Amino acid sequence: MKKGWTPDSWRSKPIEQVPVYPDLDALAALEKRIATYPPLVFAGEARKLKKSLAKVAAGESFLLQGGDCAESFAEHQADNIRDFFRVFLQMAVALTYAGAVPVVKVGRIAGQFAKPRSSGMERQGEVELPSYRGDIINGIEFDPASRTPDPNRIEMAYRQSAATLNLLRAFATGGYANLENVHRWMLGFVKDSPQAHRYEQLANKITESLDFMRACGIDPESHPEMRTTDFYTSHEALLLGFEQAMTRVDSTSGDWYATSGHMIWIGDRTRQLDHAHVEFARGIKNPIGLKCGPSLKPDDLIRLIDILNPEDEPGRLTLIGRFGADKVQDHLPQLIRAVKREGRNVVWSCDPMHGNTITLNRYKTRPFESILREVETFFLVHRAEGTHPGGIHIEMTGKNVTECTGGARAISAEDLSDRYHTHCDPRLNADQALELAFLVAELLKHDRQEQAGRAPVMAIV
Ligand code: PEP
Ligand code: CO
Repeated sequence: MKKGWTPDSWRSKPIEQVPVYPDLDALAALEKRIATYPPLVFAGEARKLKKSLAKVAAGESFLLQGGDCAESFAEHQADNIRDFFRVFLQMAVALTYAGAVPVVKVGRIAGQFAKPRSSGMERQGEVELPSYRGDIINGIEFDPASRTPDPNRIEMAYRQSAATLNLLRAFATGGYANLENVHRWMLGFVKDSPQAHRYEQLANKITESLDFMRACGIDPESHPEMRTTDFYTSHEALLLGFEQAMTRVDSTSGDWYATSGHMIWIGDRTRQLDHAHVEFARGIKNPIGLKCGPSLKPDDLIRLIDILNPEDEPGRLTLIGRFGADKVQDHLPQLIRAVKREGRNVVWSCDPMHGNTITLNRYKTRPFESILREVETFFLVHRAEGTHPGGIHIEMTGKNVTECTGGARAISAEDLSDRYHTHCDPRLNADQALELAFLVAELLKHDRQEQAGRAPVMAIV
């Protein structure tokens, strides 16, 4: 065990973003009960993910991480999970085919319920109430009862996560993810979209390759890796009482693991060096993500790396930059240089969502153009620094929502009210998510061709 660390050592540290529960005894009783419930994920799975992420850190794989900003109790339908999973698979196929690198698939799902807020209170007219902090804490409806943190919601979130994960495991291993289904993953409403043609072409090529391989005697029946996929879960480890209750000793290694998800991350608002969230994360052995916003100084990043990954274990730490399209060029290079100077092993990932949020017609939105620009700049910076652009981290849904403006269907400010369903931040819809994946695939292909010493075939920006 890490020096001085216990699953509850975070409790003696200063902490940000804590909900005010009116009944602390009820909260403690609930946490005690959750601590006896079965784990959602297993230590061995988290170790396998860490190994895959070590390959990302080494430049041999690409990380695709994405899902809802906040999962909700209201949107727990099977078709939401299926539609998310299939657009995620489509994105992964686009990336794998063009980049010719394995894609590590990590959902923001089956546990992504707790939200940090910039203000603890929300005012509407004359009324002021606690801010909505995610369904695991309180309700989104603006009334005093719903906004009061309720411990029973933790149990509901646990059970919803278990059911979601059960379906995801079935999709990942039960035949749905079989590469031979590559044509069937096309979503109804994406069929007549600008991405459909590109995806169809890609799917045709894959089918052709599969036919060729079958003729050579290699098929999904004899090669399980072609009919199943590894899909992992992740969420922000914000609600530490719940995380502590789900933290268990792995009987194989004797190490502590968060069993609430395979990978957990520390948010940009809770990454203070001597605070509770960093303290909790340092003691568990899962892969950890760290959100890096414009206020993070290179020296502090190195101190955080010292605390979170003192043994420099490859795959342990993913740095998720979320600077904004206009800021990434000013902030990312200095962080990369500091990490290179110290010779530390990390995965560099790009969250092009959280630094690009604006308000239009009273809707929180994100221009697709800014999202693309941040991702492109991320690739260009890594190209200039000689490091590997390891992955992307996005907020997305498989549904045809209108939450981010732009994209091939040119969603306008006026369109936002049509299907604006998010419980927190605006997500890419399936079309936009696939469009982004194709762009990233082109960037990866360019890098691959350059590494192979060939002249790049296409211009990239
Ligand atoms: C999030 O990922 O939903 C989030 C709140 O991000 P950040 O901590 O980077 O603001
Ligand atoms: Co968000």
